[in-house]
Amino acid sequence: MYFDAIEEVFKTHDFNSVMHFAGFKAVGESVQFPIKYYQNNVVGTLFLFEIMQKYNVKKLVFSSSATVYGNPQKVPIDESSPLSATNPYGRTKIIVEDMLRDLYQSDPTWRIAILRYFNPIGAHKSGRIGEQPNGIPTNLMPYITQVAIGKREKVFVFGHDYKTHDGTGVRDYIHVVDLVRGHVKALEYLDSHEGVEAFNLGTGKGYSVLDLIKTFSEVNHVEIPYEFMNRRSGDVAISYADPKKANELLHWRAKYGLEEMCEDSWRWQRLNPNGYED
Ligand code: WQD
Repeated sequence: MYFDAIEEVFKTHDFNSVMHFAGFKAVGESVQFPIKYYQNNVVGTLFLFEIMQKYNVKKLVFSSSATVYGNPQKVPIDESSPLSATNPYGRTKIIVEDMLRDLYQSDPTWRIAILRYFNPIGAHKSGRIGEQPNGIPTNLMPYITQVAIGKREKVFVFGHDYKTHDGTGVRDYIHVVDLVRGHVKALEYLDSHEGVEAFNLGTGKGYSVLDLIKTFSEVNHVEIPYEFMNRRSGDVAISYADPKKANELLHWRAKYGLEEMCEDSWRWQRLNPNGYED
């Protein structure tokens, strides 16, 4: 099924590179349905690489994730930090990264950029392209915007006893448009570099759950009620990037701050209360 469908596209188009975005990405769902995640994120990806090799398309930008760092031993996290997964989703990302390193060993004409996303939020400034999670949002920002639009009553803050400045989880939130810019820069980098390289795409700044709720509320002038709950299993206390390698090798740096991420997320949700159905 996967193989034939992917090959059909390669038969009818002349590609010189591939950006692979088609992985499932919900941690909780991967724990509930591991086979679905291994099938799509590993088997499907393996077929893609096999077909790329067959059609001699050997330039790839692969969407990986900061989840591959598991519970980091130190922050900020750089690309030499040890990899360790704490859930099936993270394991699928590490497996594919290892496949890519093996692939390059077997054929050094491959040019591969592995982009480890930290926490993408925000939306296109037009308010016409944004995130529409299926069902109840598992990620923080879409949950906040659904509270702001009145679809949900309050944010449940998972954990208030972490060793952070306010006891809530700290993450490196990055504007999705900065993430896009990172992909373009990665593709340009591959024009002149063979090999397989991993890059952290983050801002290098960590913000807590309460920081995000308060910033969202202040810039958008909307109340966001919240209630403290127990920690969510599998969550780490603190995760934020050392983006130096991407800054220097990709000549890329995140441009947008937390305020713009909150403004842009809210504009998308306000203009599209029911997401793409509107
Ligand atoms: C952020 C913080 C939660 C929801 C996940 C994936 C990662 C990447 C991004 C794909 C944490 C807290 C959350 C809520 C809360 N996806 N939180 N109430 O877990 O850091 O990363 O999404 O690459 O791979 O693991 O993001 O937005 O779920 O959580 O308090 O309703 O917000 O505890 O501290 P996470 P998140």
